[in-house]
Amino acid sequence: MIRINGLCKRYPGSEVDVLKGIDLEIAAGDFVSLVGRSGCGKTTLLNIVGGLDFDFEGRVEVDGRDIGSLADRDLARYRRDTVGFVFQAYHLLDHLSCAENVALAARFGAGGGSGAKRERARAEEVLESVGLAGAADRRPTRLSGGERQRVAVARALFNRPRLLLLDEPTGNLDTATGGEILDLLSTLHSEMALTILAATHDGAIEAVGRRLLRISDGRLAERLEDVR
Ligand SMILES: Nc1ncnc2c1ncn2[C@@H]1O[C@H](COP(=O)(O)OP(=O)(O)O)[C@@H](O)[C@H]1O
Ligand SMILES: [Mg+2]
Repeated sequence: MIRINGLCKRYPGSEVDVLKGIDLEIAAGDFVSLVGRSGCGKTTLLNIVGGLDFDFEGRVEVDGRDIGSLADRDLARYRRDTVGFVFQAYHLLDHLSCAENVALAARFGAGGGSGAKRERARAEEVLESVGLAGAADRRPTRLSGGERQRVAVARALFNRPRLLLLDEPTGNLDTATGGEILDLLSTLHSEMALTILAATHDGAIEAVGRRLLRISDGRLAERLEDVR
């Protein structure tokens, strides 16, 4: 699903590489946790894999596509159709309902909308799959942090992505609520044939997934174990 070779990343104006030659293979259906201290480059790596940052060196291939060489239009399509992205801070729009937030995914990138009724039905379906049946018409401002994160997961799933990327999905949640989100991810992973890559900073709620990758000093180390 993901094949990365010699990935280096340096932000403009900086003297050091954040990522110093990352090599990584993730098979379809894998559930991988990416850990490391704050500032080690987890978000940087997720952004690159998610097609949000294409200013890097090395080769990044996802689902058979060479991300670095995609034209704008294909990159937009890649972001919309192949990847679901859950950001740390939810990124929900407060003035839209839950269903509208979730259906926003239909409008990302090229192509455009395709029938409000169908979008609404799909939004309700994914909201139900994250345990929020009946929340379609509520505003995110009325929801708890855990519920907001579920809406963000629902939105990421809207277009039936093959790859789900999550940036510290439990970062803003208490331990119990974060644990519920991790349980939800495990369930979705087994039910939806998803490949999942989820970042967590050191000291956060325990990692999930079958593989644990650690970024340290710009490099990747793997610990194979049954994490959870
Ligand atoms: N847009 C940016 N411009 C310059 N430096 C950045 C930018 N984004 C992140 N960095 C730096 O890159 C390093 C890795 O950041 P990040 O990927 O956000 O780490 P993590 O997600 O593991 O906390 C940090 O030192 C951070 O300060
Ligand atoms: Mg981060």
